[in-house]
Amino acid sequence: MQKLEIFGANKLKGKIKISGSKNASLAILAATLLSNKKIFLKNLPKVRDIETMISLLKSLGSKVNFTHKSLIIDNSDQNKKIASYNLVKTMRAGILVLGPLLAKFGSAKVSLPGGCAIGTRPIDIHLNALTKLGVKYKIFQGYVLATAPKGLKGSKIRFSTISVGATENLIIAASFAKGVTVLSNCAIEPEINDLINFLNQMGCNIQWISKRTIKIKGVSMVKETNYSVMFDRIEAGTYLIAAAITQGNLKIQNVVPNILKTEISTLKKIGAKIKVKKQEIHIIGSKKIKNLNIRTAPYPGFPTDLQAQIMVLLCKANKKSFIEENIFENRFMHVGELNRMGAKILTNGNKAIIEGNTKFMAAELMATDLRASVSLILAALTARGKSVINRIYHLDRGYENIEKKLKNVGAKIRRVN
Ligand code: EPZ
Repeated sequence: MQKLEIFGANKLKGKIKISGSKNASLAILAATLLSNKKIFLKNLPKVRDIETMISLLKSLGSKVNFTHKSLIIDNSDQNKKIASYNLVKTMRAGILVLGPLLAKFGSAKVSLPGGCAIGTRPIDIHLNALTKLGVKYKIFQGYVLATAPKGLKGSKIRFSTISVGATENLIIAASFAKGVTVLSNCAIEPEINDLINFLNQMGCNIQWISKRTIKIKGVSMVKETNYSVMFDRIEAGTYLIAAAITQGNLKIQNVVPNILKTEISTLKKIGAKIKVKKQEIHIIGSKKIKNLNIRTAPYPGFPTDLQAQIMVLLCKANKKSFIEENIFENRFMHVGELNRMGAKILTNGNKAIIEGNTKFMAAELMATDLRASVSLILAALTARGKSVINRIYHLDRGYENIEKKLKNVGAKIRRVN
């Protein structure tokens, strides 16, 4: 089992190029199932979740090839409709193939994602909304058996709760439904807009008609498509926080700063100096880190995927801070490990109280989920001495070349078997 060894404490200084968005890529890869024409995708991050999604597409009959810059997907002979447990269980976004398979074949058998460290990850919002397009389903032996006997028919659908995955599944399914679908109370994460841009590039007809409402006119034909996926805003946010924690000086490149407005204003309030250029954010961490109360919320609120990372920064603030995790029911798995490094964090349900002025101590640590594992790296970067992080397969799911990117800006970090 591979581990990471990190020798702290040092300031990060230099430039980091941000990779393509894992979450936008997963939705777009699932959406390629709609097409029977070649699709060329660029800027996909080389991370395990993308490999898993590609394996899932191949198991469904997709032909996938790589050139040095693009991934080429040909679904013209794709004809399987079963997404198996062994692939969906490790990557819950596998449920995103349900919508396209139903749209294309009128039936699908997809494994229930099952829970993970951060929550039970139910799909009731996906399923309830799909029934409004004429889908019938039953849960049997851990699978969703879904059919649309008369094909998908456009409808007006309002999501009961804001859900990124459910919004994506329905956008993809409705793109091939007969007639018009109006989705309201949609998630508006930038990755959803990237999915819409991709589908429209393919020949679909999708438009925002108000802040959280999307109108989709079903189509039946699509064309060969070239598309480059957006940047990963959570990776970018993670390295911004790394600069703030190490009082470093980083230029985060290949980003659209406007998408990170909340993260930038949050870090400025905590004391970082930030200058923004067209595709770059220049951050200088300050000696004095101010405390702040954070509530995670759907976009454009503070992202749950940066909650563990900002918690580490707030451990070093001059006073007490509070964090409220409002998206997932169990997303404080990193707290125990941070407390073992000397943090003083108390949790009660979805609330955490973070004492400031922590001097992190190097320690042997265990990663539990993707974002928790990167928060341990952030803490280890500021802890004097050698920290070891185990179970870093969690990390490899969503951060491309993390040790190389950190080493290039001065971190003493290496992967050992
Ligand atoms: C997406 O997950 C992201 N994953 C998550 O990123 C991200 O944290 C999350 O959106 C919120 O922004 C991908 O895009 C692959 P949701 P998703 O549906 O779609 C509940 C990462 O670290 N819910 O918006 O699963 C759900 O349990 C990952 O990159 C239902 O109850 O998130 C959660 O509490 C982690 N029923 C809340 O809604 C449903 O049918 C928000 O979930 C669906 C969701």
